[in-house]
Amino acid sequence: MTIQWFPGHMTKAKRQIEDKLKLIDIVIELLDARIPLSSRNPMIGDILQGKPRLVLLNKADLADPEATAEWVRYFAREEGLDALPLDAVSGHQVKEIVPRAKALWAHKIEAQLRKGMTPRPVRALIVGIPNVGKSTLTNTLAGRKIAATGDKPGVTKGQQWIKVGGELDLLDTPGILWPKFEDQQVGLRLAATGAIKEDILPLDEVAFFVVRFMAMQYPGALLERFGLDKLPDDPSDAQQIVAAMEAIGRRRGAVISGGRIDLDKTSLLILRDLRAGKLGRITLERPPGEGKAGAEPRVEQV
Ligand code: G4P
Repeated sequence: MTIQWFPGHMTKAKRQIEDKLKLIDIVIELLDARIPLSSRNPMIGDILQGKPRLVLLNKADLADPEATAEWVRYFAREEGLDALPLDAVSGHQVKEIVPRAKALWAHKIEAQLRKGMTPRPVRALIVGIPNVGKSTLTNTLAGRKIAATGDKPGVTKGQQWIKVGGELDLLDTPGILWPKFEDQQVGLRLAATGAIKEDILPLDEVAFFVVRFMAMQYPGALLERFGLDKLPDDPSDAQQIVAAMEAIGRRRGAVISGGRIDLDKTSLLILRDLRAGKLGRITLERPPGEGKAGAEPRVEQV
């Protein structure tokens, strides 16, 4: 396994976010609803230096609703954080962000009102790992496409505010965080959802992980969506998972000369289907100590 976490990236990201923290009241932490902890930077608590924080579980349209409800309870119970599931593309639940952001800043708003002042909009910074949906959400909140500025060389560094109604101001450039994918399971989840580039991990290993995970936790979906005749009797048996992958490849026409199955092509088909939501709404990580979390599959080489 050759994946690594680059501390250099993190130091730079941390510094950039620290500069922005001075300008804002609250942080909007964007996570992937399908893999909330794996899509999170584990140093986030240190980086944010106690700023009030709203968690958004984005891409909830692709996640298992039952698992998402468990995650909302988890963040409230374990971290005292308000977590809102949403879909930044369709805008579903995006309207909820402003009232929740205001609730986090309510003590300051009330103090301003008591002094007879008109409260100013809450100032927020969106942070999250690449591909989690930061630009999509910014555009949806702004109601238009925002051109990326600021962090490109040659572009003036001045920060701009995006007005969201009259009650929320967003910094135009989000804070980019990096996931920590030294842990093999975390790396596989990030690769499966498309958060990290496919070539970091062997494609067949990632697809193997997905098929095994589905055999254990979403067997009905595995059977139906791929039109399999039977499920692996024992998902911990690597041979049976490879056989299921071959059956998928055969059904989908990923066959090379001599009738052999093209495992790379099959793996790509499986991952594309997963990412597009064609396998159903699937969550690849359950909150520790809840639901089906105990049934995490072990990972072996294909
Ligand atoms: P980033 O700024 O955090 O890097 O992420 P960005 O907004 O570019 O979003 C990454 C991809 O995720 C985009 O797909 C975007 O449409 C998709 N996405 C964002 N939010 C949601 C959501 O709530 N639900 C779903 N289903 N998709 C969402 P893309 O442009 O097609 O990129 P890619 O998937 O081809 O990489």
